[in-house]
Amino acid sequence: MLELNLADLESAKIGRESGLEVDAELKAWAPELDHYHRALLDRAQDPAAMLGWISVPEDTETARAVRRYAEGAAWAREVVVLGIGGSALPARGLYEALGLSQKTLHFLDHTDPLPVRRLLARLDPEKTLVLAVSKSGGTAETAALLLVFRRWLEEALGEDWRRHLAVVTDPEKGPLRAYARAEGIAAFDVPPEVGGRFSALTPVGTLPLALAGADVEALLMGARRANRRALETAAKSALMLFLLDRHRKKPVHVFMPYGRRLLGVGQWFAQLHAESLGKAKDQKGSRVHTGPTPLPALGPSDQHSLLQLFREGPFDKVVVFLRMKDPGEDLKLPAVPGLEAFDYLFEKTLFALQEAEAEGTRRALLEAGRPSFTLWIDRADEESLGELYQFLMWQTAFLGELYGVNAFDQPGVELAKVYTYALLGRKGYEEIRARLLEEA
Ligand code: PA5
Repeated sequence: MLELNLADLESAKIGRESGLEVDAELKAWAPELDHYHRALLDRAQDPAAMLGWISVPEDTETARAVRRYAEGAAWAREVVVLGIGGSALPARGLYEALGLSQKTLHFLDHTDPLPVRRLLARLDPEKTLVLAVSKSGGTAETAALLLVFRRWLEEALGEDWRRHLAVVTDPEKGPLRAYARAEGIAAFDVPPEVGGRFSALTPVGTLPLALAGADVEALLMGARRANRRALETAAKSALMLFLLDRHRKKPVHVFMPYGRRLLGVGQWFAQLHAESLGKAKDQKGSRVHTGPTPLPALGPSDQHSLLQLFREGPFDKVVVFLRMKDPGEDLKLPAVPGLEAFDYLFEKTLFALQEAEAEGTRRALLEAGRPSFTLWIDRADEESLGELYQFLMWQTAFLGELYGVNAFDQPGVELAKVYTYALLGRKGYEEIRARLLEEA
């Protein structure tokens, strides 16, 4: 079960300049948080509010369909996921964190020709399944890679290419859905009321994960627990982050998991935070230009790089640690004659070292009066990660309420897409193209 340890935020420990009276603040804000919680649950009834992610963990029927498809695709050894932003980051974070090995997944969320060529040269089309994932069904990066992989499959397999391609997209709208219908290829839905970065537990995430061997039902079970505990956990951490920004001038939110496998979770956290909270307008339409800056870091690697800045640089950061209680598999360090200089490590484990590093960093920040707090998960398994993911979505939603912004749109991201389409001459974008060319 996810735990939140807020002790290192206490003013008594780190001083009044950066610290908070945690219990007093939680008490004072309890009615407000309760109100936001109820407001979010009420608004979730309206599909336009884009709060469908709250009920996604209840949808066990889709999870079963995903599992059946994955069982039928036992022939595939490798899966190429074409998608970007919310159609890649959450799933990749989970895949890496779970350390799955049933199939190798390749997430192509870029347009760099060299790695794409290298991958194509290495893959066996007979044993490759390609998933094109795009909620809108039209994002240029995903569309471009679909063109490449669709041609590659057909050249190698002839008419059998259809068995090697599946799409995850809006149930009705967009070119990807139309294409899947026209060609009769497998298609899964991204519910219209769930935004890209909040779609981790829809087939956007569950389909690739089920193919890689994940227990999707356990992911959803963990997420349902996060739903039940949203006020107890996510509301509190959101409040701390908000107060530290607004009242203690800490607008930089560092997210620092310990464990290489959790790197991708940090990258998704950055997307959730940045795309949801970086807004020019508040919920009433007034100009605000608000949003904390997320900064993903990784322990212990970044103890040897970013930590110096966190401890001694500007007093503008709060560090959120993410730690596991149990690594699952560990590795014992042998006693090696001749290497007694390192005897303090003999017979310990890699995880024990990692934990000592996390603890050392926490204390180094504490002594310097730098605020931090810790999220604990039991282990990096489906249930714990499902809970963590849903917790992070709730945290973002509460932050949206606290900052007074709509956390579920992304006008800046959409505008860059429009300009990309216009510059490439997509039909329907002629006027914008003419303006851009004139301004160039
Ligand atoms: O969170 C979001 O809405 C975005 O990051 C999208 O996921 C991203 O732009 C990709 O969009 P799509 O899934 O429509 O291809």
